[in-house]
Amino acid sequence: MMQDTLTNPTTEAGTTAITNTSKPKLGFLGVGWIGRNRMEVIAQHQVAEVTCISDTAPENCSAALATIPSAHAINSLDAILEQSEVEGVVIATPSAFHAAQTIASLEAGKAVFCQKPLGRNAAETKRVVAAARKADRLLGVDLSYRHTQAMQEVYKVVQSGELGHIYAVELVFHNAYGPDKAWFYDPKLSGGGCVIDLGVHLVDLALWALDFPEVQNVKSHLFAKGQPVTNPDEVVEDFATASMALGTGAHLQLSCSWNLPAGQEAIISATFYGTGGGVAFKNTNGSFYDFVAERYYGTRTERLCSPPDAWSGMAGVAWAERLAKGEGFNNEAEEYVKVAEVLDKIYGRYDAEG
Ligand SMILES: NC(=O)c1ccc[n+]([C@@H]2O[C@H](COP(=O)([O-])OP(=O)(O)OC[C@H]3O[C@@H](n4cnc5c(N)ncnc54)[C@H](O)[C@@H]3O)[C@@H](O)[C@H]2O)c1
Repeated sequence: MMQDTLTNPTTEAGTTAITNTSKPKLGFLGVGWIGRNRMEVIAQHQVAEVTCISDTAPENCSAALATIPSAHAINSLDAILEQSEVEGVVIATPSAFHAAQTIASLEAGKAVFCQKPLGRNAAETKRVVAAARKADRLLGVDLSYRHTQAMQEVYKVVQSGELGHIYAVELVFHNAYGPDKAWFYDPKLSGGGCVIDLGVHLVDLALWALDFPEVQNVKSHLFAKGQPVTNPDEVVEDFATASMALGTGAHLQLSCSWNLPAGQEAIISATFYGTGGGVAFKNTNGSFYDFVAERYYGTRTERLCSPPDAWSGMAGVAWAERLAKGEGFNNEAEEYVKVAEVLDKIYGRYDAEG
């Protein structure tokens, strides 16, 4: 699967050479805000070679090319898939396109790293994971907060068993700005509001740390501009609260929002309480980027780690490293389906494909 390339001696024109060894070659589809960031971080870590870039907005494509001059622009996903040397496709388009673009890439024999959400619902997500399994290709989703140092510390504590019986999990993600692009507010393009945008990360973090227990009795309340949302396929929610019971006996409470008058830019946390104490992943000073891990003993707090932490984009780097090692499909991808099933329940959606 891996390509060996030598090269790029300094040209007569004097342009700087790219030294390359045996890094997978990648095509990038969608290089808006997050796609460009992920592309740059993968390139900076030199874990893969950015070969071609496609975006329906020419200005976004040009801006991305300006940072990776060795890459070339290409006009469609099909054109990326025709590049035999491209081993993996990194997708960061609006959410509605993720499932179809990922499936097309997998069926063309490419590995995929896709932005969250992988699908707008569990049925779409299942189809993508089935396609990855059939193609035996590595499928990664940008569940970026797993890769923060703070969440890594929390994961270790939860997994160690030192919290005893974990009976409560509190998850919070308030983005007091809300998205600045129109497509996020169209449920056909986004799949939903703050739950699918922010809640997806928190549900994933909680289930991942707890080894994906069964989730039962999901009860939720969705709001848009202060009014209850009764038709989430037509209106995106900007505030949601949900409670659920886990098969472990724990109770999980989720709150997330866009544009809440939160008094700060963001409030982000995942806190686990057990008979042996607590542990939390949380942002500091309202930041979207700075996180701490805290261990709680009764009224006492111990800080497990503090910023800085260059975590942004590291999920993509980890995926590219695995691709470079020649990894194919991994059963972990079924976790994306489990999270999507919980989100369906929060939205009151029924997976007709069961
Ligand atoms: N993992 C994370 O933490 C995280 C953070 C932010 C955003 N995201 C996800 O990333 C995705 C993109 O979000 P964004 O904020 O970067 O959006 P964006 O609008 O800035 O970027 C989307 C890009 O896709 C391009 N595009 C649209 N249709 C296309 C197509 N058919 N083919 C090629 N390019 C196309 C647009 O021109 C744009 O450049 C969303 O699904 C979002 O949920 C994930």
